[in-house]
Amino acid sequence: MSEHWWRDAVIYQVYPRSFADADGDGMGDLEGIRSRIPYLAALGVDAVWLSPCFASPQKDAGYDVSDYRRIDPRFGDLDDFDRMLADAHAAGIRLIVDLVPNHTSSEHAWFQAALAAAPGSPERERYHFRDVVDPEVPPNNWQSIFGGPAWTKTDDGKQWYLHLFDASQPDLNWDNPEVHAEFQSVLRFWLDRGVDGFRIDVAHGMVKADGLPDTGGDGTIEMIGTTQAPFFDQDGVHDIYRSWRPIIEEYDGDRIFVAEAWTDSAERRSLYLRPDELHQAFNFDLVLAPFSAADFRKAIDSEIANNAGVGAPCTWVLSNHDVQRHVTRYGGGELGLARAKAATQLLLSLPGVVYVYQGEELGLNEVLDLPAEVREDPTFFRTGGAQIGRDGCRVPLPWTREGSSFGFGANGSWLPQPADWGALSAEAEDGVPGSTLEFYRSAIALRKAHKATGLTWLADPGEDAFAFDNGALVAVVNFGAEPVPVAGYGTEVLLASSPITDGLLPGGSTAWFNK
Ligand code: NOJ
Repeated sequence: MSEHWWRDAVIYQVYPRSFADADGDGMGDLEGIRSRIPYLAALGVDAVWLSPCFASPQKDAGYDVSDYRRIDPRFGDLDDFDRMLADAHAAGIRLIVDLVPNHTSSEHAWFQAALAAAPGSPERERYHFRDVVDPEVPPNNWQSIFGGPAWTKTDDGKQWYLHLFDASQPDLNWDNPEVHAEFQSVLRFWLDRGVDGFRIDVAHGMVKADGLPDTGGDGTIEMIGTTQAPFFDQDGVHDIYRSWRPIIEEYDGDRIFVAEAWTDSAERRSLYLRPDELHQAFNFDLVLAPFSAADFRKAIDSEIANNAGVGAPCTWVLSNHDVQRHVTRYGGGELGLARAKAATQLLLSLPGVVYVYQGEELGLNEVLDLPAEVREDPTFFRTGGAQIGRDGCRVPLPWTREGSSFGFGANGSWLPQPADWGALSAEAEDGVPGSTLEFYRSAIALRKAHKATGLTWLADPGEDAFAFDNGALVAVVNFGAEPVPVAGYGTEVLLASSPITDGLLPGGSTAWFNK
């Protein structure tokens, strides 16, 4: 363990709707998570990041919070939360919860009070309301990240309110001190309960440019992208984090903030990681990068250099609940799975922190053929189906070979699982040499035994391949289609994502060698 656990941890993202359903309502819950803590411990993860489980009408799968201090009844209650947290801690697993400070649900008491109050009232000042001048023309050209305009009119037609996401997710006004005070109190509420930190949703949002000026172009900005905008990555947002850092420092236990901050460069991202701000920020460059040695190397170099500048660890990620699963991104089928394992093994040998998204350790693919009637992602509906949305990476996990929803719950699952997922279940893979689950377990255990201390590039073994020494082992990664020779990189193979034959590492594979 380095001085701070969060500088080299493996952190597992649990998406509560889709992890494990204990009460048989078709949706995952906290008791389901608690029952699977031994599984997480056996995987060897240091911490869990739990996507939102707070009271919510679930218009955006919980990223629309109506009460920040309550658990959504679909998931349980505060007692369930405390029990789950205690069991996780007893198993040596820390727990990071998901804070959504850019917007509330439209069902939040504040927004309901704002709607009931008059234009210009203090209640409306907690959000971004603007008078309607022309009912056809919103206050600016901003488009919702989920499609359509970012402004919706109040029922009486007199004012617009801003929502960068769904109309059910009004943006908070962070120029208002009341908003600051409320979130500081929410932080303390969960810190007092013993959580180990917060993932900050849309951490690059919250602060909007003065006067809410038009964006360039047609106002469309991608959520998963790298564009600065009058509502994204404004310098003022850093003041919020400078006010939060002393709060978390008051608590013992080395607790952390991790930012979901989409920025236009690794350099801008590293600003969130200055010593008086946040601890980690997801590196999304590898989520966006094609599977190629040149692209990965460029992203790795720039992240290491920029984060070193602020003394922060790199935070690597390949999949989460917003992006297509990496098995599918890399081509799907056997090829996609081989490449996905290679990329994961690469990440696990880089210096820094690695986030694993639930189900990737089973080799789950994106479910691309969900029928429209079961979809829930607002992106699908706000774009009239033009964008398929994110439901395909949110399909509930298979735990057993057979049975209702492959062991996810007793009464089916909120999204249907592919018929062949029994073979990818935890039960089917447990203890089976060569399974993706056993590969993840071995890779995580080996990573712990061989802690990276840095990264020195070695001679490339082939055209679309690279090799590096991380201070504890040598990694060779072959992104290409042809095998590459690996003799000379080390004597003992610690782990290879596909078998090395005759001194050749196949295409789409990673191998670790003892130094
Ligand atoms: C980012 C979250 O990861 C995503 O799932 C959500 O839809 C948006 N923020 C809005 O909260």
